[in-house]
Amino acid sequence: MSGASDVPGARGPGDPREAIFEVVVTQLTYEADAVVSVRLERPDGAPLPAWEPGAHVDLLLPVGITRQYSLIESPPDFSSYTIAVLQQPNSRGGSEYVHVFLRPGQRVALGAPRNHFALDPAPHYLFLGGGIGITPLLSMVRAAALRRARWSLHYGGRSVRSMAFAQELVAAHGDAVRLWPADERGPLPLGELLRERADDTLLYCCGPAPLLSAVQEQAERAGWPREAIHFERFAPTVHAHGPDLPVTVVARRSGVEVLVEEDESLLDGLARAGVSMASSCRAGVCGACQATVLDGVPDHRDDVLTPAQREAGDVMMPCVSRARGERIVLDV
Ligand code: FES
Repeated sequence: MSGASDVPGARGPGDPREAIFEVVVTQLTYEADAVVSVRLERPDGAPLPAWEPGAHVDLLLPVGITRQYSLIESPPDFSSYTIAVLQQPNSRGGSEYVHVFLRPGQRVALGAPRNHFALDPAPHYLFLGGGIGITPLLSMVRAAALRRARWSLHYGGRSVRSMAFAQELVAAHGDAVRLWPADERGPLPLGELLRERADDTLLYCCGPAPLLSAVQEQAERAGWPREAIHFERFAPTVHAHGPDLPVTVVARRSGVEVLVEEDESLLDGLARAGVSMASSCRAGVCGACQATVLDGVPDHRDDVLTPAQREAGDVMMPCVSRARGERIVLDV
């Protein structure tokens, strides 16, 4: 998840499955208009958990706000994490807090890294980033270069001044990086970029919703297979799904069965019955609440699972997804 989704939500209390780390802000750097990077370290200097390109963390701010940010950098010993935060004009508090109040020396909490935007092995990648959506792609292009894959990154933004890390990318990777500041060159030429696909190419895209919709449309029109396209979304999309009906949810490991009403999420219904699960965005975009399905068919409404995972129906996001049928059994 890049820059940040301002999706409201907070990790539930008593979260049994995810570690929380106290970290201290050791550096703030202005990277572009309204974009600040934040370096975080453990107070005792101990290493943080390892992560792979595409991973994000929950940042738990002292004002009770939780936001997800892509990890953009760590030294080899994982003694720090770096994230980048765009100050959203319509901030619901998270990005504004980071820009206005967060200062070096301040302590905050972090969740463990999660990754639902992993870089699958491939000989060839096409990376498309829009605005702060560049953040998860930063570690991906480094990994692609290290793997000696062929790759190109097309990075769009309002203007060069607003495009964080643009000059560093060009300096490090030369012609593999193409910048598309809209005020000078117009929008990303998606029709041209997606027109032809080599069979071995994977597409990774992160940015605002209109960009992702346009990429999806163009890629489908050009015949890209669904499994070759990977999106990281800031905010939930609207999915076609079945009706909201009451469903009986069995939490097999907890030995609990609860009838979840049509206007209640499965996650909330389980919490009401005393089953505490990890959660963060509560909007189907972060993957924190992922649960294994033991029986029943999920009605997926999230933006995390791949088409293949949705079809398999082995896991689901109970913060938004429901069931096709009257009963579903989860391994929680
Ligand atoms: S809490 Fe984020 S996907 Fe469910």
